[in-house]
Amino acid sequence: MRKRLIAGNWKLNGDWSLCQQFIAAFAAEKPAKQQADVDVIVCPPAVYLARFAELIQSESSLLQLGAQDVSTEKQGAYTGEIAATMLSELAVGYGIAGHSERRHRFAETDQQVVNKMLNLFAANVTPIVCVGEPIEQREAGKAEDFIESQLIPVATALAEQGLNGRPMAIAYEPIWAVGTGKSATPEQAQSMHAYIRSVIARFIDTDELRVIYGGSVTPDNATALMAMPDIDGALIGGASLDPKQFVALANV
Ligand code: PGA
Repeated sequence: MRKRLIAGNWKLNGDWSLCQQFIAAFAAEKPAKQQADVDVIVCPPAVYLARFAELIQSESSLLQLGAQDVSTEKQGAYTGEIAATMLSELAVGYGIAGHSERRHRFAETDQQVVNKMLNLFAANVTPIVCVGEPIEQREAGKAEDFIESQLIPVATALAEQGLNGRPMAIAYEPIWAVGTGKSATPEQAQSMHAYIRSVIARFIDTDELRVIYGGSVTPDNATALMAMPDIDGALIGGASLDPKQFVALANV
């Protein structure tokens, strides 16, 4: 049984008050699920990570922290970048690489996504690598080909760098479902998750690989999605900004 992973990606939203509200909500609601059942990750903007980490520790919260992005570089003259080693110093356990907004709005390439993933591994931060097809590819019946093309560089690097068995997650986030209110159906997501596992299984063992779904996940549709055998959790944008909804998602 793979442990469920519920990750909230705040994107360019939230403030220090929201960080405090999350700690309070998790303390007040006493989620039925515990750390043994589920990893519950919040990815706030990076400037809040240090203070958030202190608060999580002092309140013994169930929450864990993730970063929304990380540098392709390890250190040096790269103004504005944040290195994976800096994240691990702050007890940030997870890092997202290759979110569709980074790939499209910031023209991030497959190779850059791989470099980010490898830097996270090297710093002992668990990578959450995102893949997802645009609507045109799905409508043309080419969704699997597109996803495979994003997975091959990732899986090749995993095999070449001897990373078999290291904890990580793949987030399947069809672009047409992200922020649109139009989630993939459980069947569509299950079918792609099984495909993702089969592609990566050509390179490394995938029994422990968590494949999580993202794209308009809410407490209303999460139960049906997560009932699917290859859906090991969720990456949540919009609904992760509401502490009550996020507690509900952690408890699905
Ligand atoms: P959404 O975003 O839940 O708002 O669709 C998902 C994501 O971008 O990870």
